Amino acid sequence: MTGGEGRLGSVVVADLVAHGYQVTSVDVQQRFGGDYQFLKADLTDHGQAMSLFFGVEDRFAAVDALVHLAAIPAPGLLPNSATFRNNMLTSYNVVIAAISAGLRNIVWASSETVLGLPFDEEPPYVPLDEEYRVRPNSTYSMVKAMEEELAYHLCRQHPDLKMFGMRFSNVMLPEDYEEFPSFDADIMRRKWNLWSYIDARDGAQACRKALEHDATGAEVFIIANDDTVMQRHSADLVRELWPSVEIRRELGPHEALMSSAKAKRVFGYAPQHTWRTVL
Ligand SMILES: NC(=O)c1ccc[n+]([C@@H]2O[C@H](COP(=O)([O-])OP(=O)(O)OC[C@H]3O[C@@H](n4cnc5c(N)ncnc54)[C@H](O)[C@@H]3O)[C@@H](O)[C@H]2O)c1
Repeated sequence: MTGGEGRLGSVVVADLVAHGYQVTSVDVQQRFGGDYQFLKADLTDHGQAMSLFFGVEDRFAAVDALVHLAAIPAPGLLPNSATFRNNMLTSYNVVIAAISAGLRNIVWASSETVLGLPFDEEPPYVPLDEEYRVRPNSTYSMVKAMEEELAYHLCRQHPDLKMFGMRFSNVMLPEDYEEFPSFDADIMRRKWNLWSYIDARDGAQACRKALEHDATGAEVFIIANDDTVMQRHSADLVRELWPSVEIRRELGPHEALMSSAKAKRVFGYAPQHTWRTVL
């Protein structure tokens, strides 16, 4: 597990441990603790990434599967070239090392950003799905799009390889929900991701189920919760901003405008959480 000390990664580690997995969290910094082992590594270094998968002294004998989440997690946190360098190199190094060591089960973090965030250009239709060409609008998102392409070609070269990319929506922890009722006052405030979110616990469930799904090939999946962050009707939100955007089917009152239908269909993703029941 790379990025296991992060906002989403720490919840994924806890979920995997709770489901009986032996987890090694690899990260540049240790922030948590628990029933897993931690290994400090800078994954921009190819040598460090490579040696991880060939055993680290007596820490573990072999790695069965990889969840790769390590990244600078958003646009604008570092200069663009630093985001590009860290994220692209990290993903290349980790994935190439894993494949070289014979590992064939990889789940990794793509991002909702490839769907066209912040939607200065109107979406092609709603609800969004995985059927249209990516529209990255930042260096961060460009790297995710390139990683999706990398996964596609690596799986083409290795027909027994599985690489499932999770296009996570904006990751939320339960303590973040306090702010949600204030979002309704201004529809522009969360328009940048079509008022979507992912509860970290549901994000973790998606990683685990994707990991357990027996398949080969590169696929990407939108991973969001089933509702929006808003009280207003989803169709009203779309109509107010983009009167001519195609709404492909009748929408439920708070239905998410990013559809996780593919993840539900392929590996049984079933989000359990909504901010509406927490508050
Ligand atoms: N947070 C979101 O809203 C969101 C949305 C969509 C996708 N994602 C993706 O999900 C993943 C996890 O996001 P998060 O919110 O938990 O981010 P985070 O920043 O909390 O966690 C990422 C972790 O990766 C580690 N890391 C970064 N570069 C590294 C390197 N070179 N070597 C080793 N460790 C390194 C960091 O130390 C950090 O602990 C990322 O790939 C991010 O791009 C996040």
